Amino acid sequence: MCGIIGAASSRSVGKILVNGLKKMEYRGYDSAGLVLNNESEAIQLKTLGKVANLEDLMIEKKPRAQSGIAHTRWATHGEPSQKNAHPHTSNGTIYIVHNGIIENHDELRERLSNDGYKIESETDSELIAHLIHSNKENGKSTLEALIEATKALDGAYSIAVIDTEQNGKIFAAKQKSPLLVGRGIEENFVASDPLAIAGLSESFYLLEDGDFAVITQDEIKIFGSDGEGVSREETIIDTRVKEVSKDGYKHFMEKEIYEQPKAIANAIEGRTTEGDVLDNIFGLGSSESFNRVKRIQFVACGTSLHAAKTARKWFEELCETPCYIDFASEYRYRNPLVEDDTLFVCISQSGETADTMAALNYAKEEKYLGIVTICNVPTSTMARESDWKIFTNAGPEIGVASTKAFTTQLAALMLLACSISKSKDINGEKRAEAIEDLVNTPALVKEAFGLKKHIDDIVEKIADKKNALYLGRGVYFSIAQEGALKFKEITYIHAEAYPAGELKHGPLALVDETTPVVALAPEDELVEKLVSNLEEVKSRGGTLYVFGNATSKIKIEKGKFMNMPDCGYYNAPIVYTIPLQILAYEVACSIGTDLDQPRNLAKSVTVE
Ligand code: G6P
Repeated sequence: MCGIIGAASSRSVGKILVNGLKKMEYRGYDSAGLVLNNESEAIQLKTLGKVANLEDLMIEKKPRAQSGIAHTRWATHGEPSQKNAHPHTSNGTIYIVHNGIIENHDELRERLSNDGYKIESETDSELIAHLIHSNKENGKSTLEALIEATKALDGAYSIAVIDTEQNGKIFAAKQKSPLLVGRGIEENFVASDPLAIAGLSESFYLLEDGDFAVITQDEIKIFGSDGEGVSREETIIDTRVKEVSKDGYKHFMEKEIYEQPKAIANAIEGRTTEGDVLDNIFGLGSSESFNRVKRIQFVACGTSLHAAKTARKWFEELCETPCYIDFASEYRYRNPLVEDDTLFVCISQSGETADTMAALNYAKEEKYLGIVTICNVPTSTMARESDWKIFTNAGPEIGVASTKAFTTQLAALMLLACSISKSKDINGEKRAEAIEDLVNTPALVKEAFGLKKHIDDIVEKIADKKNALYLGRGVYFSIAQEGALKFKEITYIHAEAYPAGELKHGPLALVDETTPVVALAPEDELVEKLVSNLEEVKSRGGTLYVFGNATSKIKIEKGKFMNMPDCGYYNAPIVYTIPLQILAYEVACSIGTDLDQPRNLAKSVTVE
């Protein structure tokens, strides 16, 4: 959730750090700060709110130094405030930035206070600075003091440290929160995300849990938890700058919505052949093992969880396999009973979400057939920790509200359902239909963009409302859930999704003239039942905004019917997602919220 970056260079690093924070602002944006270390002093600047405020302060103060660390925050311990913003210092010599959560902070706070440290902030992070300082006071070198400090920490952290007595060096540590080291020319970096140093480095070392690093402008050293040097493989990551720019769009979210035809095509490319899926697209040995799959356990959070819910039907139909779906944050606390030959599947855009990662770690200790990860970030921890994986190839998603990650996850889930079905050698015809639908999806998504002109007509009618209901049946209930999530995330209007048949069991009480009801009505086996449910809304004065097929017998007196493209059975859920994304986006634009960085949220939630 927070983003950290550190740089040691032959040039002044202030601008590098601020630009890096801007690219990581999706990780948190309630405050930002940095510390620069030049030979004579540490220069610390902190501001509340967006990184742009820090940039303004930098322009005013013009600090110069060849090494420094910086942070953009998503508050966990302590409100967003100047005092709680990072970097935190101990004694004006040790400065740290931290991403993660220290679980034993109460105990450490008490211990450090008893040792005479004055703790200035409400954060768990400040304690790390004092621990390092105290270890140094006991005669340890800075690296030793950092290693010793981490032994006292329970929880997750990536940390970057500056010691004013060690000018030009950045010290770093990683445990359960992402951190990598980037190699540049006459400069080196540490960062939470390779995007932070896009254009400066394409050559990275992905630190493992328990690793430490020391970088200077011309040297990178990595150490294991025993303080002995270790070597980590150098990975080349293409951090094309274009992909992290808005490219003429008003917001990243808008750009990402309209990138979906290309993103979905990328997710499928090279993975299918005429009427079927290629073998082993989830990695070596996957096709061979998948024929044993008897059950599937999905875990994910947020939008990624909705992808699992949507895809369940495909697994039941194509693979004849029952599925369990859990919120990643709940999964391990229900002591799940694992039956033989159950495949464990994690879905995550970032591949770093702490709840999903914790579920994966739990699953590793259980007797699952294997662990599959579906994610968008090849360098992510989840990808590295899984037996099999597939990357959604959507390109960086910056908008906090997930769009192209969702539709490409659905494409990848369809590929997984087809792979298992193929390994079991069942339902070949249905599989061929699913693959054909998948290949046709990008064109249909493009066609669905045409709905924007109809959506524009209803934006103002919805933007002043307090609540909205989203209805669907079957798979479309999951799509309605994703639509409602998108809507509330960025408009701040309460929206709730219901299976349409459930309406009469409670939520109908909410329906009156002021309630917009968004419904998904594809021409399927449930459409007639849905029409009856919508009649219940009409007779209570609710306003209906229906996305469906013109052939369905829905008459709307109050509201609007919007005709969807003619979709296939398997790709329709993906295509029906599009107008809901556009609706949320356009309503948020009309309200004027900060929709790439909605309040209280962050894109990559690396704390539990
Ligand atoms: C955060 C984001 C959501 C996202 C969820 C899971 O809450 O705001 O948009 O769906 O995390 O993220 P993941 O990277 O695991 O898909």
